[in-house]
Amino acid sequence: MAKLRVLFENGDPERTIEFDPSKAPFQHDGRPGSILDVLLAHGIHLEHACGGSCACTTCHVIVREGEQNLSPMEQDEEDRLDTAEGLTLHSRLGCQAIVRGDVVVEIPK
Ligand code: FES
Repeated sequence: MAKLRVLFENGDPERTIEFDPSKAPFQHDGRPGSILDVLLAHGIHLEHACGGSCACTTCHVIVREGEQNLSPMEQDEEDRLDTAEGLTLHSRLGCQAIVRGDVVVEIPK
């Protein structure tokens, strides 16, 4: 089992999701088992204007803990992220980063 804790910059109460990564995909947008996939399947809204295909930056999240429990960043994601508003050293695209263990992410406003 993996735990995905979600913080919201807009002040919404944090949420924690426990799930089995081996059961991915959980719905149809983003890479199977990605942050986006897990969030949408658990009723947590994350923008995903391009449908989870690494073609926008609306699914931008900031990883607060457990970066090592996410799939490594691929070139496509890195190139796309470069155009994200509010980019940080710990930014990822929610539709591309696959959750493999315990992770804490923050959804920017
Ligand atoms: Fe567009 Fe992730 S939803 S890049």
